[in-house]
Amino acid sequence: MAPTYTNSNGCPIPDPFASQRVGQHGPLLLQDFNLIDSLAHFDRERIPERVVHAKGAGAFGYFEVTDDISDVCSSDFLQSVGKKTKAFVRFSTVGGEMGSADSARDPRGFAIKLYTDEGNLDLVYNNTPVFFLRDPTKFPHFIHTQKRNPETHLKDPNMFWDYLTANEESAHQVTVLFSDRGTPRSFREMNGYSGHSYKWSTKDGKWVYVQVHLISDQGNHTLTNEEATALAGTNPDHAMEDLFKNIAKGNAPSWTMYIQTMTSEQAKQAPFSVFDLTKVWPHKDYPMRRVGKLVLNENPKNYFAEVEQAAFAPAHTVPYMEPSADPVLQSRLFSYADTHRHRLGTNYTQIPVNCPVTGVYNPHQRDGHMTVNGNLGSAPNYHSKLRTDIEYKQFSIQEDQEVWNGAACPFHWKATDAEFTQATALYNVLAKYPNAQRNLAHNVAVHASGAEPAIQDRVFAYFTKIHPDLGAAIKKEVLELSPRK
Ligand code: NDP
Ligand code: HEM
Repeated sequence: MAPTYTNSNGCPIPDPFASQRVGQHGPLLLQDFNLIDSLAHFDRERIPERVVHAKGAGAFGYFEVTDDISDVCSSDFLQSVGKKTKAFVRFSTVGGEMGSADSARDPRGFAIKLYTDEGNLDLVYNNTPVFFLRDPTKFPHFIHTQKRNPETHLKDPNMFWDYLTANEESAHQVTVLFSDRGTPRSFREMNGYSGHSYKWSTKDGKWVYVQVHLISDQGNHTLTNEEATALAGTNPDHAMEDLFKNIAKGNAPSWTMYIQTMTSEQAKQAPFSVFDLTKVWPHKDYPMRRVGKLVLNENPKNYFAEVEQAAFAPAHTVPYMEPSADPVLQSRLFSYADTHRHRLGTNYTQIPVNCPVTGVYNPHQRDGHMTVNGNLGSAPNYHSKLRTDIEYKQFSIQEDQEVWNGAACPFHWKATDAEFTQATALYNVLAKYPNAQRNLAHNVAVHASGAEPAIQDRVFAYFTKIHPDLGAAIKKEVLELSPRK
């Protein structure tokens, strides 16, 4: 049935553009609810953008289990080969604002919501397997240096390199970022990684640490620094457009999910900590095991409703998938739901894109702004013994998995020269790809040439620790681009 044009209380209005005036050209009347309400609603259209990952694109699809991994994890959605679970994915850049360019040199967010029969599972990943830090207290400091200078409101290469070179555990992620993978050609053509170690367990009480990889079935394709810079001017929304148009024409992108696993005994022997987000698990020591496929085949119908209001949180998990003690992950368990309450409101899980398909019975969480789901009607608003019809599903939760012991003390996980080992391994991997080492040096040099000489010197020293050839190549090009007097 064709809708009748109305104002916001449903009252039909014959001409939405008409405003009530005294005579045709006299002053307006306060009684004109259509005009007042339209302007007032418009004034409130904006909600806070995400403090990081503000610019992004999303799509719906599904996750399908292709391989039996029931020996590793008893989560319901993984229990039978062929089982499909509805998914929503949001890709993003990190440092820029809502209108910033998709081609920026930046990690890409790869956030997945799986609407499982045991509640929503959010896999809030990036397109790089490591991160800039392993002390969560550093996160706001670090992000500020990648955003705008408080005085000039400009991006600032001095802040950028001052922070990174003073916090050398960043070296591995910085090497990934300044390789050509720092400027993916599209969201379709990049991988996703859990980064953190998670803990997956089974009903019989076994558990392992897990790293998750989503390898693009479209392959990894990247932009050069110059192509990325040009695209920022000609089509700052190129990745968003690429995703939407490919899905619209039936070219559904997909990723194959793999896991690496490690027992607690293996973790004690590993030459790195499984809680160190700046390290990967070498493939040869911890082989990849295939799990399933993620397919994106449906565009959102409304960007604001479904993409902007999507709320992903590492704390949104399902039975038999747990966080590890990685301190950055532990902090993220708090931070995301906190920001959703601020950005979207207390009842953000009632927004359809965030709503578990299983329904929610959580009777003490009631009221609050924008309660739109019936508010559990007349059910008691506390955990009541009077209610005898409620089911309490039992799981063999692994309460004694790990025993922690020690004094409560402040600890700063400071960098040592060991931080450079895996960055050096990556530099050696790049030797296998044409021009990859040269592009890494060039991409750093173009960026660092904007910094002051004293900070440039720290950049040379930092990359020399990864490889002397890399440090020398960066120094040579920086001094050509920004000659010293
Ligand atoms: P391998 O030789 O087994 O693997 C090297 C991996 O490097 C490839 O599988 C590919 O990962 C990845 N790679 C290729 N080009 C780039 C790039 N420009 N930026 C980032 N990654 C790239 O080696 P190891 O497992 O021993 O790891 C060596 C180094 O490879 C690590 O220090 C790390 O920097 C990098 N790497 C390792 C990963 C891991 O989980 N072990 C994952 C990603 C990178 P992919 O197959 O995921 O595309
Ligand atoms: C978004 C905090 C590290 C991946 C966000 C947001 C916050 C945040 C506040 C905005 C969320 C929103 O408004 O909805 C943090 C903190 C971190 C951290 C405090 C470390 C202490 C990481 C890491 C990863 C990651 C290590 C990846 C492994 C993402 C992604 C998004 C995001 C993908 C975008 C989610 C979306 O598309 O809505 N982060 N983050 N973050 N973060 Fe982090």
